[in-house]
Amino acid sequence: MALYSEKVMDHFTNPRNVGVIEDADGVGEVGNAKCGDIMKIYLKIRDGIIVDVKFHTFGCGSAIASSSMATELIKGKPLSEALELTNKAVAEALDGLPAYKMHCSVLAEEAIRAAIKNYYDRNGIPYDKAQFPDPADEDEHHHGDGEE
Ligand code: FES
Repeated sequence: MALYSEKVMDHFTNPRNVGVIEDADGVGEVGNAKCGDIMKIYLKIRDGIIVDVKFHTFGCGSAIASSSMATELIKGKPLSEALELTNKAVAEALDGLPAYKMHCSVLAEEAIRAAIKNYYDRNGIPYDKAQFPDPADEDEHHHGDGEE
């Protein structure tokens, strides 16, 4: 019995969209305090559409597969759709994750959300704060890449 689906193994061994976007319009970094894994997502945005996305994940195989799948799911999509991406949808697109690995997919959802919030903040775009409930976001601006 395989613990991980073929899709998980595929996205883990051959992750899509790995890297950095130097002149990203939004960057989101999140971590899981328990396992210590960190995920960083870079977005290039034009007219409200995610035209490019890259990620760097220092984490477990499920976190890498989740970031890879999540970036594929939001590429070319409007921000409104990317904001609706849930960790459950990411896990489903991977044909499932073991229950104790579901938190790894949560990182992907949170990193995308943090990157979009960063884009809104940088551009003074108003947003509904209720859409960004993660209190850890308070620390996001300390991780700037010195672009300003
Ligand atoms: Fe930490 Fe998977 S074990 S994200």
